[in-house]
Amino acid sequence: MSSVATIKRKVIPPHLEVKGGHQLSGVLKVSGAKNSSLVLMAAALLTKETLLIKNVPKLTDIEVLSEILLNLGAKLTKRNNSIEINSRCIHNAELPYQLVHSLRASFFCIGPLLARLGEAKIPLPGGCNIGARPVDEHINGLKALGAEVVINNEVVSAQVSTKNKRLHGANITLKYPSVGATETILMASCLAMGKTTISNAAREPEIQDLAKMLNSMGAKVSGAGTQRITIKGVKTLRGTSHSVIPDRIEAGTFLIASAITRSPLIVGPLVPNHLSAVILKLQECGCSISHHGNHYLKIIPREISGVDITTSPFPGFPTDLQAPFMSLMATAKGSSKIKEKVFEKRMQHVNELIKMGACISLEQNTAHIKGVKELIGSNVKGGDLRSSAAIILACISAKGNSIFTGLDHLDRGYEKLEEKLSNAGSIISRKFDQKTSQISFSNKKFTEDNIDTQKNAA
Ligand code: UD1
Repeated sequence: MSSVATIKRKVIPPHLEVKGGHQLSGVLKVSGAKNSSLVLMAAALLTKETLLIKNVPKLTDIEVLSEILLNLGAKLTKRNNSIEINSRCIHNAELPYQLVHSLRASFFCIGPLLARLGEAKIPLPGGCNIGARPVDEHINGLKALGAEVVINNEVVSAQVSTKNKRLHGANITLKYPSVGATETILMASCLAMGKTTISNAAREPEIQDLAKMLNSMGAKVSGAGTQRITIKGVKTLRGTSHSVIPDRIEAGTFLIASAITRSPLIVGPLVPNHLSAVILKLQECGCSISHHGNHYLKIIPREISGVDITTSPFPGFPTDLQAPFMSLMATAKGSSKIKEKVFEKRMQHVNELIKMGACISLEQNTAHIKGVKELIGSNVKGGDLRSSAAIILACISAKGNSIFTGLDHLDRGYEKLEEKLSNAGSIISRKFDQKTSQISFSNKKFTEDNIDTQKNAA
C-alpha cells in the first residue's frame, strides 16, 4: 500500500527576519514626528487656504488620515515627505466609521470641523489594546466652548446652535494633562469668539509644534509648552508652510538601539530638550551622550546597569519609550523596576521578551526585571506600535535568529525602520508572502483588508 505524504507549508504573514548580535555604527536618521504630523494635518481643516506641511513621515497612520481628509472634501498633494492640503471645499462634517475605527488620531478632526462648520459627527475612536483611552476630556472641553454634544450608538455628534455657528471662549481645566484633549481644545478655540484658557494643559513638544503652526496661520496662542495655554480667538486662519519637528520617540528608540547593541552611534536630527528624561536615564544606566553639532547626539554605551523608570506626561519619561527601555533593561547588569503610569494596558512586550530569555515579573503595571547576559533569538510578535519597536530592538541585540511578525503595528509609526537599522549594520530584512506583497505606502485607496489591520492608535 502506498502512503500519501502531505506537505504542509506554513504561510508566514509579512515579517522581519533578523540575525541578531551585530554591532551598529554610523548615523541613525530620525524622521518627522508622527504624532505632530497627524494633528497638523487635522488643523488644515481650520482654513480655506492651502497648508504645506513638510517633513511628514511615510506611515500608514498618515495614509489613513489622508483618506479621511479626502473623504471630507479636502484636496491633498503629496511630494516626497511634504503634504499640501486645501480644505476650501470641505462638504462633509461626518467621518466614516471604518476609517475612524482604524485610527484614534482621526478624533482630532472634531475640533477643527466644529470651529469651521459649526458641526461634526465622529464615531468614537476604536478600541485599543493599550487601555481604555476615553475622550471625555475632549468632549467636556468642547461643551465648555459652547458645543452641544450627544453620543448616540457610539457616534459623537457635536454642533454649535447659535446663529453665527461660532464657539465661544472659556476657562477650561483638564483633570489630566491629556495630549489629545489639549490639542482638540486648542484647535477648536482658535476660531472661537473671545479668550480661552486651558489649565493643566499637556506640555508635550507636539503641542508646541501645533501652536507654532497655528500662530503662523494667524492664530493667537501663547503659553504652549506650559501648563496654561491662552488662546485669543480670531475670525479666520490663513494658509502657511510648516516643517514638522523630529520624532522624539523614534530618536529615543535609536538611542536605546545604540545602548542595547552596545554600539556607539550618532542619532539625529533631534531636539535634545525633547528627550531630557530619556537622556538622563541612558546616562544613569551607563551611556555617555554628547552633542554632535546642533541637531545630533553622539551616544557611547559602556557597561549598562539596571535603573528604575516611571512614565509620566512630558517632561517626564515618555510612555511611548517605556517598552523599548524595558528591552534594554532586560540585558542590563542588576535589576530594575519599570512603572507604567499613563496607560493601563501597555505591557504587551513583556511576554515576548520573556520568550527571548528575559527575566521579568509583572505586578499590575509594574515590571520587575533582572538583567540576563544575553537574549536569545525567537519567533516574536508585536502587539502594539511601541511594543513592536521594543521587540525589534531585542531581536537585533539577541544571540541567533528571530522572526518578527506584527508589521501592521510597526508601519503605523516607524518610517523604514528595518532599512535604517540595516544601513547601520543590523542584519534585518522584510519578507513578504505573495498575498500581501501588493501593499504599498503610495496607494491612494486603502482596501478593507489593509485598514482592518490597523487597529491600534498610539
Ligand atoms: C498621545 C500620543 C501617544 C502618547 C500619549 C501620551 C498621539 C496621536 N498619540 O495619545 O503616542 O502615548 O499621547 O503621551 O499624539 N485620557 C482620559 N480622557 C480623555 C483623554 C485621555 O482619561 O479624554 C487619559 C487616557 O486614557 C490616558 C491618559 O489620559 O490614560 C493620556 O492620554 P492622552 O495624553 O490623551 O494620550 P493620546 O492623546 O491618546
